[in-house]
Amino acid sequence: MGITYFEQDRIFKLDTMHTSYLIGLADEENFLGHLFYGRRIAEHGLACFLRTEEKPFVPSKNERERISFLDAFPMEYPTHGIGDYREAALRVRSKDGHRVCSLSYVSHVIFQGKKKIPGLPASFAGEGNCSTLEITCRDPHLNLTVVLSYSVFEETDVIARHVEIENEGEDIVILEKAASMSLDMDNRPFEALTLHGSWARERHAERRKLGTGYQGITSRRGESGHQDHPFMALLAEGATRESGDVYGVQLVYSGNYDIHAEVSQFASVRWQAGLEDEDFCWMLEPGQRFYTPEALLTFSHTGLDGMTKNYHSFIRQHIIRGKYKDRKRPILINNWEATYFDFDTKKLLSIAEEASKLGIEMLVMDDGWFGKRNWDDSSLGDWQVNEEKLQGGLSALVEEVNKLGMKFGIWFEPEMISPDSDLYRTHPDWAIAVPGRAPGMARAQLVLDFSRPEVVDGIWKQMEAVLESANIEYVKWDMNRPLSDLGSSALPPERQGELAHRYMLGVYELQERLVTRFPDILLENCSGGGARFDAGMLYYSPQIWCSDDTDAIERLAIQEGTAMLYPLSTMGAHVSDCPNHAVGRTTPFETRGYVALAGTFGYELDVTRIPEEDRAQIPDQIALYHKYNDLIRQGEYYRIASASENHLYDCWQVVSADQKESLVTWIQVLGGAGRRSRFVRLKGLAPEKRYRVEGEERTFSGDSLMYAGLQIPDLKGDFVGKLIHLVQV
Ligand code: GLA
Repeated sequence: MGITYFEQDRIFKLDTMHTSYLIGLADEENFLGHLFYGRRIAEHGLACFLRTEEKPFVPSKNERERISFLDAFPMEYPTHGIGDYREAALRVRSKDGHRVCSLSYVSHVIFQGKKKIPGLPASFAGEGNCSTLEITCRDPHLNLTVVLSYSVFEETDVIARHVEIENEGEDIVILEKAASMSLDMDNRPFEALTLHGSWARERHAERRKLGTGYQGITSRRGESGHQDHPFMALLAEGATRESGDVYGVQLVYSGNYDIHAEVSQFASVRWQAGLEDEDFCWMLEPGQRFYTPEALLTFSHTGLDGMTKNYHSFIRQHIIRGKYKDRKRPILINNWEATYFDFDTKKLLSIAEEASKLGIEMLVMDDGWFGKRNWDDSSLGDWQVNEEKLQGGLSALVEEVNKLGMKFGIWFEPEMISPDSDLYRTHPDWAIAVPGRAPGMARAQLVLDFSRPEVVDGIWKQMEAVLESANIEYVKWDMNRPLSDLGSSALPPERQGELAHRYMLGVYELQERLVTRFPDILLENCSGGGARFDAGMLYYSPQIWCSDDTDAIERLAIQEGTAMLYPLSTMGAHVSDCPNHAVGRTTPFETRGYVALAGTFGYELDVTRIPEEDRAQIPDQIALYHKYNDLIRQGEYYRIASASENHLYDCWQVVSADQKESLVTWIQVLGGAGRRSRFVRLKGLAPEKRYRVEGEERTFSGDSLMYAGLQIPDLKGDFVGKLIHLVQV
């Protein structure tokens, strides 16, 4: 297993437990070609990849047809301008303005483990088998070296790819596009699965058949975004949730991206993922290196379930860091939907007092505690406590909260600046804008130019002072508007195209400072709900607020799409008040609890004002959290049924690693239309084990529960739910 170079055949073979990835060298020019990615194959299978019948057409044998060769060759990292007319992974411009680049293999190294990618979040080797192949390619004309890096994670069936580009010449080279990965395969024909959405409707799964030509998703918003997600799966014809070949790619990046597939005239598919290139242009000076973000590739021959399993284990083991990586998170109560901007110390303490009696463990003070912020139109950038609201200051409030036996958390939106702020009055040039042109506003705010170290430092000093001033154990880091009017008053004209990526590097730098300086703080990322829920952010925060839509029924699709890639422990989910503030629907308090239990679990309501019958249920919900959270956080997740597909009911399951225990959550969305019991076929149990449904006498064998199903009675009504706990007998 791991990485092997077969010298005679000039083939690299990258093996994980269930997959193989093959790269070959072609012709005397040493073109790097993609041979295969898919289900694991043994060594003796290599002969079929040598493409002997195509040999006469390589340029060294038939230079006359060089272009037809390049037009069809499955290039491992294709470049622009040489006769491969499909989308290039790398597009550069020389100092003379030419845009031609051709890469040939020069050398390679294979080593155990994995290096960091400077300035960027990336997977780390951790425990388990991880080895890395670095293939160095070169364009001698441009003196440009391109290192293709492949880290092979054997147990989780993931290959992490990124690219490093170094200018070894004496002239500037301009990077116009630098993808993180490119993959050429024969089209089978594939369907693409993406996660689409908008504010309060994030990550709804969508499938479409690949047609010929170019199709994909992108973000030009400066954040990964509510709208599309930096992920795509390609499903071979007939692949389902449980079976068939599925390829997945996702980026460890939170800014502008592009992921697309292009089906060529010869029905081959070129699949690429990386930085979006419309708002990207990077001056690479002699001696400098550019690092692309990382792409995580996986392959499963057991349908989408296999892909989900691979990504969940991978993200748990190789992306998430810090104290809370494997720990249970405190049950929080957040005051946003409880008070919005209208709160003071007294109000917060009244919530905390009531919450502590019910078993809630942490109070989170959301937006509105700083500057003169009484609405969303001022004070971002002025991170000083508003003592008119917090009479006696922050530390006094935190002390009182701590006396109740609760932890305290706080909200920041570090990347933003309100035009009505002292920061803007002092440093108007710190906002991203084109000089002389009024920048577009969103939520009455502008974005800070985090490409400038002094801006990052300025915000950090303020944040550090606040975090040092009291016993703060949690931070919610928000980001509430996309970037526009890209202009930096510090970057020279020829570097303005670097702003969007440099901005992200600044955000990562500040998040790294925060988690290094305050390693005990639990960080939760957020972006107007879930607009920056991605593997890049999970490198800094073990959990991310999933959506501003806290309606239990709308959350089903949002959490289903999110959990297709990310472990349940990462999904910020709270019980909120009804009618729901986002959609106006009323659902039973109990159901809201079941849905929130599938994530981090917490409350987002004024516990002093909700109906008594709801409040009375909180201790029971908290008991469920304590009973099941280890299983939910650490267990294997399975999607059983989807209300987005059947419009009637939703069901998911978690199974412990030793298969001794499982929790099934069933939500009946529409009662009337179904009105009958249903059998749901469970997953992941041990066929030979016997299980008892907690609270019942009957026992069932694992195989009957998986192959025949568990009968779930009609629950009578809409929006009702049930937890079913199976325990081995
Ligand atoms: C965003 C977040 C909310 C809340 C508000 C505060 O919308 O998603 O949870 O923090 O900002 O302004």
